Amino acid sequence: MTTIVERIGTLSIGRVETVTAEELRIALFNETPQATALNTGTPTGFPRINAYMLIPNETGAVVAVIKEISIVRANPGLGKHDEALVDLPFPARTVIAIPFGTLLREGNDGDSQPLYALERGVPVLPSVGDPVLLPTATQLRSIVEAKTNDRLIQIGSAPFAGNARVWVHPDKLFGRHLAVLGNTGSGKSCSVAGIVRWSLESAAAVAQAAVQEGEQAQPANARFIILDPNGEYSQAFNDGTLPVRRFAVGGKGSASPLTVPGWLWNGQEWAAFTSAQPGVQRPILLRALRQLRNAGSSAMTARAQAIRRYTGYVRQIEQLYADLPQSVAGFPRNRDFGSLLEGLVGLTESDEAALAAYGDDVADLTAAIVAARAPVEAVRASRHWTSANSSGYNDFQPGDLQTVLAELHTITDAFSIAATHGEISEDAPVRFDVSALPDRIYDVAMATGGQTLNNVEPLINRVQVMLGDAGLRPVIDTEGASSLSEWLAALLGPGEGATEPLAILDLSLVPSDVVHVAVAVISRLIFEALQRHIKETNETLPTVLVLEEAHSFVRKDADVGASAQAADLCRQTFERIAREGRKFGLGLVLASQRPSELSPTVLAQCNSFLLHRIVNDVDQNLVRRLVPDALGGLLGELPTLPSQQAILLGWAVPTPVLVRIRDLQKPQRPKSDDPQFWETWLRDKGVLPDWQRIAGSWEQPDEDVQIPDSLDAATGDETDTDQDGP
Ligand SMILES: Nc1ncnc2c1ncn2[C@@H]1O[C@H](COP(=O)(O)OP(=O)(O)OP(=O)(O)O)[C@@H](O)[C@H]1O
Ligand SMILES: [Mg+2]
Repeated sequence: MTTIVERIGTLSIGRVETVTAEELRIALFNETPQATALNTGTPTGFPRINAYMLIPNETGAVVAVIKEISIVRANPGLGKHDEALVDLPFPARTVIAIPFGTLLREGNDGDSQPLYALERGVPVLPSVGDPVLLPTATQLRSIVEAKTNDRLIQIGSAPFAGNARVWVHPDKLFGRHLAVLGNTGSGKSCSVAGIVRWSLESAAAVAQAAVQEGEQAQPANARFIILDPNGEYSQAFNDGTLPVRRFAVGGKGSASPLTVPGWLWNGQEWAAFTSAQPGVQRPILLRALRQLRNAGSSAMTARAQAIRRYTGYVRQIEQLYADLPQSVAGFPRNRDFGSLLEGLVGLTESDEAALAAYGDDVADLTAAIVAARAPVEAVRASRHWTSANSSGYNDFQPGDLQTVLAELHTITDAFSIAATHGEISEDAPVRFDVSALPDRIYDVAMATGGQTLNNVEPLINRVQVMLGDAGLRPVIDTEGASSLSEWLAALLGPGEGATEPLAILDLSLVPSDVVHVAVAVISRLIFEALQRHIKETNETLPTVLVLEEAHSFVRKDADVGASAQAADLCRQTFERIAREGRKFGLGLVLASQRPSELSPTVLAQCNSFLLHRIVNDVDQNLVRRLVPDALGGLLGELPTLPSQQAILLGWAVPTPVLVRIRDLQKPQRPKSDDPQFWETWLRDKGVLPDWQRIAGSWEQPDEDVQIPDSLDAATGDETDTDQDGP
């Protein structure tokens, strides 16, 4: 069998003339081919930018990639020099190449063909005069193809390396996040769909082979979740070869309803969605959420109901206080106020008895109620008179009202203090009736004091409008999965008998007001679910989360406008996943047209890149900075890459490589055809619009959704705002 050295004679194409650590200058022999080399066994285009050359040494061969080809007008040189002739410059071809790795011999394969393996780095640089060779087809494959054990998923071929196949190992491709970047129409979505498809097909093929060897058939324990803002992926997996779970708003066709129930959102997500301001609105919103989540416990219900009764008194007395002295002076006003105090004292007695049933859970509240009774009774008694045949009240003084108010406030305060310990937090995904939220915010604001209500009124209105929106209701309301576990099982696949490794979430019909929050909630819940899985089992549950159009969800700059808080929150969620996801088995695949608009934190955490055509120079520069590789030269191809070709670099491949992504059949491609103006003009394609139907569905997205009455009652009388029954 020939070694590299033995074949020098046939493959030699030039000599090293200059060596620096960064690059080699190589003079090509005159007889070296001009366009196609035949001496490698198969016709090879040569010389070509980004093609590979070998310089043999004692351990194997240094691998260099061609960066520049030029003609230098040099003298013919010694040996050919003839004293009798005038010494004219003679054109000589020169190549500048960057050394980047070493090809080592790794024994022979089954057919006793030599095997090689590429090591990154060049321990011994070549020297001047060293011969330069063209790699053979086998050697080319060894340069661009992954190590034998890593050859699991074939994603394409390498045109600069004799169309050697480009393989990736899923652990490397998904384990440290992949960014797929490129202009519109450059083929990102096709590549993503292809990578997902070929990954699952490879796993299925291995499983199938195992079945043929007599093992029991087992569905792949794989999890891919595609967040699909344009609704283009559903079609790509429609061909029935892969089991898929589909989700879309309203559950059209074979898709299940896509829901992100409001009770799954944490406090921050609610605050972002409602744009609650930090000062007053946010604490009240969070407290309202906490109360609603706790309402399921009967002690909390009793507590909340009791508090609401005292809050009612606070309001009445505050109103009276505002109109002093008329409001509680003279008959019948002084008598009315006296009766109000009688009622209040009676209430403290009946509440003490009623709350006794809940024991320690309400001890603090009971204590506050009992403590208030005596002072209130003292105020009442001090104005009370009795005569032989009648009784009544004298005028009350401002101090009287103040005393009573102070006592009532100790009771309502007992609520907010108690609400912070030993109970469910505002973030827990505990189910509650989302439509009761406006009422509850109102109650909490009341309990805090009438003044707060002015600040909170806009928040209540916002929540009411949002919950009343026919487009939003199907997404955020409670009509979705009935429990957290069911929701997770639908999204991440059931634990037992999981047969669909792929879930496609069509976000195209999710109203834009909620899409950021929805994406944030879904991603956070997936992340936290995987975190909890690892806590329970000590094993990761490898999951790939694909985010298309990442620039709109993981923006670099703070967004402005109504959804600014939600966009911020969404970015923070993904930054967290990018930073910590790897530890919990969550791999991100981000696809974006505008790398320069993506959050740098997220991009910096991506360890593999699939770069399609990028024309814009801001984006090109950004991409260059991301790739601190001596092989950045390959990136010069970026503006001219045809669609379906991309540069794959980073952790997933031994060396950056230009890949022609495998073909996807038309039905397997994401639906993103270019509009066909001409054919439509000529009526060869397309259908005429039916505006009536479009307007109909636009005006009434969901006709059978009724807005419950409770929403209209939110700012009404406090006595009928009780929404927290179990
Ligand atoms: N692997 C492939 N196999 C077959 N066709 C492909 C492949 N990659 C790209 N194409 C062709 O390129 C077109 C555009 O690809 P694609 O929709 O993936 O672009 P994109 O980068 O996602 O664009 P956008 O940013 O607008 O979403 C496809 O419609 C398809 O015709
Ligand atoms: Mg796309």
